[in-house]
Amino acid sequence: MVEAFLRVASHTSFWIDLKDNFIAVALQKVQPKYSVDISFEQIRSITQVLSRIIDSKSQYTQQHSKELSEKVDVMARFYDYSDEERFKLIIAADLHDLGKLAVPNDILDSTGSLSEEEFSVIKEHTYYTRIALEQITGFEDIAEWAANHHEKLNGLGYPFGKSHKQLDFNSRLMGCLDIYQALTEERPYRRSLSHTEAMDILNDMCKNGFVDSNICKDIDVFFSNVHI
Ligand SMILES: [Fe+2]
Repeated sequence: MVEAFLRVASHTSFWIDLKDNFIAVALQKVQPKYSVDISFEQIRSITQVLSRIIDSKSQYTQQHSKELSEKVDVMARFYDYSDEERFKLIIAADLHDLGKLAVPNDILDSTGSLSEEEFSVIKEHTYYTRIALEQITGFEDIAEWAANHHEKLNGLGYPFGKSHKQLDFNSRLMGCLDIYQALTEERPYRRSLSHTEAMDILNDMCKNGFVDSNICKDIDVFFSNVHI
């Protein structure tokens, strides 16, 4: 291996290819070019595994993506989505926090209040989710629904501060369900909240124009008696 490396490394082109400006193009050239047609249902069996990896990142999110996907599934059936759209939404839920893999655990699991700088690092995670998913052909909607989950209708969300006009129904649904899911889970700085407590917070957010009130009403109806 050393001999082979020395042979390749003796060319100037090898070292230029490694520079930040050129590495993407260099990798593209050696990437095998093939594609397979698989359904969103089949892709879901892969993203389900990825969601377990994402959830394992922190002790506080062990069930987060898994249970968000289950809730998204329930709501998609309630709204009578086609199977394809339902699976795309479930895939988006599986992968919505993918970018958290790039956030250090000492920030994610911090029990104290976060500094402004630490919070800005947390906020980067949805940007990374978008960058990762946008590159996959056929994942345009999925990237949008997954990466918009911290955007708010009044423009006060992150990372783009999108407005209500830029947030489609599934982005709004993902945002509301993510908040509901997070509130009903334990966090390092608080216990898990009951359905009623979580709905109080969500309803306040509706009043202040953060999230979609019709979707919140549906969540209230749907999950008041259902425990998943
Ligand atoms: Fe998130």
